[in-house]
Amino acid sequence: MVSQKADQKRHSTAQAPSGERRGFLRWLLLAASGGVMASLLALIKLIVPQKSGGYIPTVKSGDQLIYAEGGKKGKPIRVDDLQVGDSVLAYPGGKDGNYANIIRVVRAEPDSFQPPTRKDWIEGGVVAYSGICTHLSCTVSWEKRPQVTASIIICHCHTGLYDPLRGAKVIGGPPPRPLPQIPIKVDKGVLTVAGGFAGPVGPKL
Ligand code: FES
Repeated sequence: MVSQKADQKRHSTAQAPSGERRGFLRWLLLAASGGVMASLLALIKLIVPQKSGGYIPTVKSGDQLIYAEGGKKGKPIRVDDLQVGDSVLAYPGGKDGNYANIIRVVRAEPDSFQPPTRKDWIEGGVVAYSGICTHLSCTVSWEKRPQVTASIIICHCHTGLYDPLRGAKVIGGPPPRPLPQIPIKVDKGVLTVAGGFAGPVGPKL
């Protein structure tokens, strides 16, 4: 009997370390899988454009619009630089470090704009919208067609199409909402911001 009890004791003490080891191994596996998941999520964030939005523009009334690309990059955009049918990408002066501020400027005949364009936010036939696609944040481009009224703002990432003369409303592809308009004025010949965006820029939260 004594020897049986001693045997049981020996058996249970022999199993304790093995149980602890199993617990430790389980913990290790969980930690490892947690680490793998975290790395995977970080990788996905890197390769998939963020859908969560969260862009915070810092553009303010009075900011001059500056060429964001091309030969005149960094120079103020003069209204006379643009012909009807032209479009350029712009940043508010000194704020090009914030992607949320990027703006697409389009010049058309002043009487060619239709609702829901805010006509009081246009000057000299120049309208401005956020340059960030509302689908997955790519920068929108300009597709100039022989007829200005047929020209479109296009996002090449997934062929999102916006109508520049109708408040940048979506006319094709996956974008869920228009590009928000931003009011502009001409100050001493230079395109200047006259207020904030009509709504959130980029994909919604
Ligand atoms: S990111 Fe513009 S259409 Fe998808």
